[in-house]
Parts: sequence; C-alpha cells; structure tokens
Amino acid sequence: MNSYNGSVADVYILGIESSCDETAAAVVRSGEALISNVVYSQIATHQPFGGVVPELASREHLRAIVPVVRKALEDAGKSYKTIDAIAVTKGPGLAGSLLVGLSYAKALSYALEKPIIGVNHLEGHIHAVLLEERQKGNRDLQFPVLALVVSGGHTHLYLAEPKQVGWVYHDVGHTRDDAAGEAFDKVAKLLELGYPGGPVIDFLAQHGNPDAVKFPFAQIKHRDRNPQNRYSDDHRRVDFSYSGIKTAVLRYVETHGLREKIEQRRSALAGLSIPSSEDYLAACDRQTLDLVASFQRAVVDDLVNKTLLAAREHNVATLLVTGGVAANSELRKSFQTVAAQEGVPVYFPSRKLSTDNAAMIAAAAYPRFLAGEFADPEVSADAALRLR
Ligand code: KG4
Ligand code: ZN
Repeated sequence: MNSYNGSVADVYILGIESSCDETAAAVVRSGEALISNVVYSQIATHQPFGGVVPELASREHLRAIVPVVRKALEDAGKSYKTIDAIAVTKGPGLAGSLLVGLSYAKALSYALEKPIIGVNHLEGHIHAVLLEERQKGNRDLQFPVLALVVSGGHTHLYLAEPKQVGWVYHDVGHTRDDAAGEAFDKVAKLLELGYPGGPVIDFLAQHGNPDAVKFPFAQIKHRDRNPQNRYSDDHRRVDFSYSGIKTAVLRYVETHGLREKIEQRRSALAGLSIPSSEDYLAACDRQTLDLVASFQRAVVDDLVNKTLLAAREHNVATLLVTGGVAANSELRKSFQTVAAQEGVPVYFPSRKLSTDNAAMIAAAAYPRFLAGEFADPEVSADAALRLR
C-alpha cells in the first residue's frame, strides 16, 4: 500500500485552463481543497457550427481570461498578491487557445514574481479525481492505479504513480483514431442534436432501447512492440477505436430512411438559439431514441470492457475514470457495477470537475510546487504534449 500526502503550510495555487473551448480559473489549497472554480463555456459560440472553431475559441479566450481569473480570485477571497503560484495548461490542446492562457499566466508570473508551473491537461483530468477524494478525506489510494481519461479529445489508459517529484504515467492503451467524446459529438451532429453531443445523448438515451441496434466493437489487444515501454515484455496493450461507430450510425441513418426525420428535427428546432434536452426529446421519434441509446450502450460497454481488460492485465487496485465523458450516467453506473464485481474501487470526479476546469490544473501542480519544479519563464505551449 502506498499513500500520498505532502503537507506543508497551506499553499494557494491559481490554476488557469484554456486548452479547448472553456476559459477557466480556480484557486485550490494544497492540492486538497477547492476554494473557487470559475468556468466560462463557449458552447453558445460554437453551437451553430456543431463543433469547436479554433479561431473563434482563441478570440473568446482573449475576451474572457482577465474577468475569469479575477472572479476566481474574488470568489476565493484572494488577491493576485496572496497566491503562492500560478499553474497553467501547457498542452495538449488547440495551439491558439493554449497560447492565451499560457501568455497570461506568464505575464502574471513575471509581474507578481510568483512561480509558474506548466501542467499537462490530461494529468489535470486525473488530479480532478484525486483532489475531490482528498477533499472527502480519502487519502489512502491503493496502487497500482489505472486511470481512464475519456474526453472530447482523448481516450487514454494510464498507470499512474506518485514519485519523488510529481507523478509519473505509463500509457497502457489509447485510441487509434477518434476519441470517445468525439464520437458522441459527431453522432449528435449527424442527428441534428446540437453541440456538445455527450450531455444530450446521455439524456435522450434514457428514453430509448439500448438493445435495438447492435454495434460490434473489435478487441484491440496486442503485445507492445515499443522497447522503450517498460511494460512491453510481459503486458499487452488495450487500444480503442471510435471512428467506425460513427460510420456505422451514418449507414444506419441511410439504410433506415432517417434523413427525412433529421431534416424535420432541424426545421423544428431552427427557431431556438440553444434548445434544451427536453426540446430535443420532443423532436425525436422512437427509432432515433433507440439508435441513440444503442450507440451509447455500445461505446460505454467498449470503454468499460477494455478498461477492465487492462485492469486485469496490470493487476490494478484502484480505477479512476475522468474527463468529459466521465459525466455520462450510464458509464458511471456500468463502471460501478463491474468494479464492485471485481472488488476494485472506482472513483470519478463530480460532474462539474469531469469536464474542463482549472481546479484540476491547480491540483496537479501542487506536488510539483512541493518539489520546486517550476517552469522556465520562456515555457511554450505544446499542442501535442504527451503525458509520461
Ligand atoms: O474534458 P472535456 O470538457 O474536454 C476535452 O478535454 O476534450 O470533454 C468534453 C467532451 C465532449 O466530447 C462532450 O460531448 C463529452 O465530453 N461529454 C459527455 C457528457 N458530458 C460531456 N459525453 C457523454 N456523456 C456526458 N454526459
Ligand atoms: Zn479535457
């Protein structure tokens, strides 16, 4: 058994996150207490395009960054002077979006003479769970820990362990093409169910039959041929693939005459700027609800089954499930059921900290703060930053 706790005097870290379409700032105390959490979502900006438009995202971040940071400090009863460090997402993400948060964090760090800590966005998602578990008083995490990070841009399995300086992560599986959240978003776009697709599909799936349409998934389990990977000798990787299911849904739409219904839904909802889940429900027929429920069931089953395969492969003692798709109700239920059967605890972030936020960035920075691992003042954004 191993436990993580590094306790010194209270440390207040200001987190800043701008890697995709949320401008966020938060103050976290000593990696274990969420003091403030402000998220400005750009959904209204990107909704008409059915996905994130990178140029618009950068512009919106520029508009929002100063008031969002100011509000996070105000809500925390803190000032620029009374925080101890600034943590910022340095990648992966949209280059132009990352640059806004990073440039602002660097300017603050320079002007305030406070250290800056660059954080990997995926590490942030993992620490969203750890932050909330510590806040609940759960400090004895059993290792090995396997984390599924499943969001709009990523579907990744990492073995995560604390080291002398921060944590280290071993990639034991990831998607070979689309991320799971991307599949939710693309299927929602195809069916005229708005953006982002996950929350609406989550709601609509509760009204459909998940066994109506079968979407088979291949098992992608193979020996790791990368000699650099220390798990390559005796462990097999478990990879994901979510581009095929999007094509399968498209084929179903075409072979089952759903085009006309999609067009009717588009016209019915055209007058509403941001339709509610209830509006979408009223605009869906039974066949569409069944299709949506079956799609969600297939993705959830695949995520759960493959995570379980990897968990057995590495004999893990704890599961963490995090990222935007971890907000999905069926995914949570299904993981809880199988984890109980396996006798392995599973932890999720609250729904608020499942999707992008800056509290997770501030929490991930805390062990690095303790270790004095600060970023160079010239730190630059890395859109394709890998977690290790
Ligand atoms: O973590 P996140 O905010 O951003 C990335 O790092 O990508 O995740 C956003 C993704 C979107 O694809 C969105 O559709 C999905 O998370 N999502 C959901 C749910 N809520 C958000 N997917 C399924 N069910 C949900 N309830
Ligand atoms: Zn994210």
